[in-house]
Parts: sequence; structure tokens; C-alpha cells
Amino acid sequence: MTKNFQNSDVIWLDSVDSTNEEIKRRFQELMKPTWIIAKKQSKGKGRNGNVWFSSSGNFSGSVMFFPTVDRSYFHLYGFFFGVALYNTVKKYIKDGVDIRLKWPNDLMIENGKVAGILLESIQSPQSNKTAVIVGIGVNLNSHPNLNADFKKRYNSQCVANFSNHEICQVSFFNKFSNELKELGLYLEENDLASILKLWKHRSYDKGTQIQVSDNKGGVNSGKFLGLDELGGLIVGENSGVKKIYSGDVYFGS
Ligand code: BTN
Repeated sequence: MTKNFQNSDVIWLDSVDSTNEEIKRRFQELMKPTWIIAKKQSKGKGRNGNVWFSSSGNFSGSVMFFPTVDRSYFHLYGFFFGVALYNTVKKYIKDGVDIRLKWPNDLMIENGKVAGILLESIQSPQSNKTAVIVGIGVNLNSHPNLNADFKKRYNSQCVANFSNHEICQVSFFNKFSNELKELGLYLEENDLASILKLWKHRSYDKGTQIQVSDNKGGVNSGKFLGLDELGGLIVGENSGVKKIYSGDVYFGS
């Protein structure tokens, strides 16, 4: 699964609207797995139609590759990149600072969101090949001031607030690439489901009170009980145990 994006081309741009959109525009010319990274992004896209604010100095990058796994497993790449992101950011922050992965694809420090992942797929018109695009945004040195509506769900944070120094985009990417490589090697020896085990170790404790919005305006409250074998969220509610496959999690009762 992970050899697909090793040895990718890397293109750095000064500025672009969205690195995911730029990959789609260039898709026909991209012959091999490619990263497009922008020093500044003006129209970043988040999950569920949200905007992703990415000031200059933060990390905005997307990688495109042709997966060898079945479509039904594409979402597992989100967990894979999430674990590598966690391992990378952990190296920058001071000991004792609380850092966790939040389902499905967020990285939180002290309960403030520092990074998010947007997974998309694109079909080549000439062949029936499908490519996956993994877009990653990390608040390295600054974070947006979220409006009250967002703040009800979560706060925003940046890595530098928990580090001793400013964080360079290039060295962050180099460290992240190394983590991806190491995790890739680990997965060559272990089955795919083991990524979920690594993810769970880096997430919230079982029993944490959460709220899950289901993208249709519905909200379920319950206890975080972990992930099932497909990466679905298991929530304990008064009415019983529920599995959720799309939505967003936030905290509170
Ligand atoms: C989310 O948490 O909602 C996902 C945020 C993903 C943002 C990144 S920044 C690089 C790439 N380009 C985009 O337009 N979005 C992703």
C-alpha cells in the first residue's frame, strides 16, 4: 500500500489556490506520484465543504499516487498519513504536551486542531486508473481565529506554540517524508489493519465523552470506544453501541 507514493516528485510553489486543485489541474501531465506543496495557499479546502485557512509559513501540501488497494480501502490512507503526521509533529513539541489524533483525520494539540487531512480521488479520462489525492494542512507557525460557530466544536492551535522555535516548512516536509518512509517499511512487515492499531494508540482514551456530527445536521453524543476493523468510529450511546463511517467528532457532553 505504501510503496505507491515513495520516490515521488516534489514541486514547491510560491502560492496557489489549493494544492489539491492544482494536482487535479496538472493530473494529465503527472506521470508518477507527485507532491505539490505551496508556501502560501489562498483558497484551501477542508473536509465537508469547509474552508481551510492556510497562512504563509504553515504547511499546505498534497500528494497524488495510484493506489494498489481496492477502492473500499482508500480511506485507510487517511489513518496512515495521520500517524506519520503525529510522529512528525511530536518531535517538535515539548515533553508533556498533549497531542492526539482525532477521528477521522485531525491532529490535536491540547485539544486545539493543528492539522487536517483531505482525501480525494480522481479518475484518469484516458485509462480507468484512479488516483488518490491526500491533502495535508498543518498550522506550523500560526492558526486562524475561528468564529464562534466553529469554536463551539473545537479550537485552533499551531505547533510553534508548543515548541521552542519557529518551524521551517522545508525541514518539516523532510521530517514528514522520513516518517512516511519508516511507516511504509513497518507496514510492509505488518498487515494493513495494524495502521488502525497505531492510530488508536495516538488517539483519545476509551470512554472520552464525544459528540459526532453526521454531515446531515444530526449530532450523536456518546463515549469514544475506539475503531472497528474498517476504521469506523465506535460510539457508546444510551441506546447501545453505534458505528459511524462519516462525520466529524468534537468534545463535550
Ligand atoms: C480538514 O481538516 O478539513 C482538512 C484540511 C485539509 C487542508 C489541506 S491544505 C493542503 C490541501 N489543499 C487543500 O485545499 N486542502 C488540503
